[in-house]
Amino acid sequence: MNIVLLGSPGVGKGTYAERISKIYNIPQISTGDMFREAIKNKTEIGLLAKTYYDKGNLVPDDVTIKIVEQRLKQDDCKNGFMFDGFPRTIAQADALSNIVVIDKVLNFTASEEIIISRLSGRRVCIECGAIFHIKNIPPKTEGVCDECNGKLIQRDDDKPDSIKKRLDVYKKQTEPLIEYYKEKGLLADIDANRPFEQVDEIIADARKALDE
Ligand code: AP5
Ligand code: MG
Repeated sequence: MNIVLLGSPGVGKGTYAERISKIYNIPQISTGDMFREAIKNKTEIGLLAKTYYDKGNLVPDDVTIKIVEQRLKQDDCKNGFMFDGFPRTIAQADALSNIVVIDKVLNFTASEEIIISRLSGRRVCIECGAIFHIKNIPPKTEGVCDECNGKLIQRDDDKPDSIKKRLDVYKKQTEPLIEYYKEKGLLADIDANRPFEQVDEIIADARKALDE
């Protein structure tokens, strides 16, 4: 199954993608994670992406589409995949439709207040990328990853100015994709306002939509 996860920055796409992709045994493809890795390794794409990423802007479509196209050629995508954070513009969605058929789009929704508090308190592991939250999903030891003992940090784009910019960019450039995929009959809305104690219910709703 070829799946797209849509939703505002901070709604929880990465958190849910990790769980859903394990259930369906398909890879999670996060363009955000790919750019963070490239930035960390100071590759050519990383150096270019950083100028956009740090300000909360989208990396240009041609660069993003190219890295996705390369990723889809890998063996683990043969039986399907789950996009987390791609496509993010109509141009990316159009380009994607020329490469593969998408079976379902899950659109996670939550109020702006919830989203801002999730982004402001997020901490991620510098080693394995595991996602925590200082209040909602605290690690057992402050600042240390439960999975690999790596150091937990705040993402560069989770500072207040970048958060504001990312939410504006989402509204202008990504939100139109909701209508785009609704018109194609592929969209299912999933209520992600629920607290982390109810994450199993969020995942169950996603499974129901995928198995329909
Ligand atoms: P990207 O990494 O994709 O960031 P994003 O879309 O802004 O989304 P986030 O990762 O911030 O949020 P999320 O929905 O994954 O939430 P999470 O699960 O972490 O992109 C970053 C940048 O890369 C972009 O700004 C752009 O520059 C570039 N980029 C990426 N893709 C691109 C593309 N296609 N085109 C161009 N540029 C691109 O959860 C958030 C927090 O909430 C966590 O702390 C988590 O623990 C907590 N949480 C989650 N669920 C719950 C819950 N139910 N209850 C309580 N807390 C919860
Ligand atoms: Mg994410």
